[in-house]
Amino acid sequence: MTGRLSVWPAVFGIALAMILVTVVEPVTHSLAYASSAVVLIALLGWILEARDVAGPPPEVEPEHEEEETPPGLTYWPFVLALGIVGIAVGLLWAWEYSALIAAIPLALSSSAGWMSAVQQDAESTPAPDQTGPAIVTASGKILTPVSDQVLTTQAAGGAAIALERTEVRQVSRRGLLRLTFWTGLLAGLGAIAGATIDMLYPRGITGFGSLIAAGNASQFSPGTRTEINAGKFWLVHLSDEQARISDPENGKAGFLALWWKCPHLGCTIPFRANHTFAERRGWFLCPCHGSTYDNAGVRVFGPAPRSMDRMEVMIDSDSGRISVNTGAISKGTTDNAKFAVEG
Ligand code: FES
Repeated sequence: MTGRLSVWPAVFGIALAMILVTVVEPVTHSLAYASSAVVLIALLGWILEARDVAGPPPEVEPEHEEEETPPGLTYWPFVLALGIVGIAVGLLWAWEYSALIAAIPLALSSSAGWMSAVQQDAESTPAPDQTGPAIVTASGKILTPVSDQVLTTQAAGGAAIALERTEVRQVSRRGLLRLTFWTGLLAGLGAIAGATIDMLYPRGITGFGSLIAAGNASQFSPGTRTEINAGKFWLVHLSDEQARISDPENGKAGFLALWWKCPHLGCTIPFRANHTFAERRGWFLCPCHGSTYDNAGVRVFGPAPRSMDRMEVMIDSDSGRISVNTGAISKGTTDNAKFAVEG
């Protein structure tokens, strides 16, 4: 694992994995998740490399001392550092496509590194042995290949030389490296192009990101909350009391659409009717790290950096129809209850 070729395919794979994560599941902390994978791979690579450098266990070590070759340059600490920085940045800077932006330079730099490693490896590969193993011809004769040099010498001495052409297919190490490199590079570029097109393609015509019909205001009694799966939010009908408890100064009764994605690391937040906290029952409680939110989604406990995010709620004054714009999301605040829309 100390050679140059040991690290670049792994880095290239990581870059592709990061792109895949972003394309398949655009998540707020995608950079942090992808960087965690980088850290794990770096640690694994480093451990394997350390094992190679340390050599075999003492009981199987050869008796005679061999001259030690110094270990080659190791890339794993850099990859590890990159991963750790990525996690930190990913946690602080919550942007859905950050992993994609990080993956593109990573893929390009690893391609360049890989290409230079392949080139150097190819240059240092010794010329193939011209006197290879014996070949059995179609007619059953056994031919022993002779080097060009020997043939030239024999021909110069007047020897009669009979030649038989035999098809020999060999895949050299250099050829294999070239093939894997170019295949990987083309696949990577294709993935980047696909991811970019996917990112830029307009969406949100239906489903999450669009306007969702959540029902009629008369369906929801004050003090209740309803899960709206199509929009990934909780439709909360705040009662007077709940609004006052949440924000005594500005809270008002009405409807709130609270995105159920936890602002900490993105877990889905359920409502726990039996959970008791601060002598009150019934809280939104994140199952991942315990962040706790009141009926208006205001954070009262846990590592979440803010209250639950709000989506824009519109209620038709004549029909009472509720529409929620799941593409218009405001960051949660301690005065979430102030934004309740009267039905
Ligand atoms: Fe919700 Fe961590 S993801 S508290």
